[in-house]
Formats: sequence, C-alpha cells, structure tokens
Amino acid sequence: MSSEPFQNVILLPQTNQLLGLYTIIRDQNTRRPDFIFYADRIIRLLVEEGLNHLPVTPKIVETSTNQKFDGVSFLGKICGVSIVRAGESMEQGLRECCRSVRIGKIVIQRDEETALPKLFYEKLPEDIADRYVFLLDPMLATGGSAAMAIEVLIKRGVKPERIFFLNLICSQEGIDLFHARFPEVKIVTGAIDSGLDENRYLVPGLGDFGDRYYCI
Ligand code: URA
Repeated sequence: MSSEPFQNVILLPQTNQLLGLYTIIRDQNTRRPDFIFYADRIIRLLVEEGLNHLPVTPKIVETSTNQKFDGVSFLGKICGVSIVRAGESMEQGLRECCRSVRIGKIVIQRDEETALPKLFYEKLPEDIADRYVFLLDPMLATGGSAAMAIEVLIKRGVKPERIFFLNLICSQEGIDLFHARFPEVKIVTGAIDSGLDENRYLVPGLGDFGDRYYCI
C-alpha cells in the first residue's frame, strides 16, 4: 500500500442509502433484475459525481419571473469509453445524465499465451483528444485492463487530467497502480474493498459483475 493517500480518488459519500444499495448488489442471493436495478442506481450516482468535477463558467440567465439568475454552464465536451463487456452496463447511466453523449469502446482480453491483458479493438470518437473522458468499468481489481485502456486514451491525445475512471468497487492494489502510473487520472468510486482473492476477484466484492448483470 502507498504511504500517502491518493488525492485523485473521489469516493461517493458513504451514506446509509449507498450502503443499502451495495448490500443488495453484494448479496449472492440477489436475483438478476434486482442486481441490475440497484447497480444502475449506483452507476447513476457515479456519473453525477463525475459531472460534479467538470469545469464550469459563469452564466447569467433571465427566469420566467423576469429576474436574473447567476448560474453556470459546463465548459468542454465529454464522452464515455466503456471497457467491453462489463463496462457497457454503465453506458445507459451516462446517457441518462448526458443526452446524446458519444460513447467509444475498448476491448481488452487476456492473452492466452502470456496471460497478460491484450488490446483487441478500439473505437473512439475522432475528436476524443478535445474531450473529457468518462472511462467505464465496474470493477477495478488488479488494474491491468484499466491501465491498458488509459494508455490507449493517452496515445490518442487525451490529457490524463481529463480522464475520470468510474467504477463501483475498487481495490487498494488498483488505486496504488493508478497512483504510481497515472497520478492525474481521477478515480470515481463508491467502495474500496480490502483485497483480492487467489482468482483476483475483489473481496468481499460481489463476484463477476458481467455475469451477474448480463447472464445469471
Ligand atoms: N471483475 C469482476 O467482475 N469482479 C471482480 O471481483 C474483479 C474483476
């Protein structure tokens, strides 16, 4: 574990409501429709929290009572990038908050020969270098795939400080990897778990997120 806390971890407020949502999705007896419903609620909170950290500029509008209101408007464009397959579960939550948002995809799989993550496919908006990027993957375990995805984004010209990595649960190991390699990338998460098991699943975790969201 690193000696100093990583400033760029944005942890959702640990309210009883949030704890209740995590209790449902972590419960092995929760059936798929409920898993989807409550995971979607957490995803929505993560997206809203990510949006809280985007820059704004002052904007004055006139209300229907003909009064001035000192408000703000968002600066800059955003896009989503999901790490297929589990990250695709977070796309809808992003669309619900940001209408017509562009969403790219990255496919990373384990190479059979080396057992290391390997990039298979990327499809990203052409102007991604000009955007803030919400990288979507529900579980940050070892961080191998996410780190590879960040490298793809940086190669395409995205500034690390404009990347927000949204996940439902992360490990300290994953946070430490980001701290060491991508200190400017922001991690937006709802839970930090104590460790990984021998299969590199988060503990206590919730099992395989993609299987629980899409299959069982
Ligand atoms: N991916 C998952 O789906 N679950 C974990 O615990 C770790 C990675």
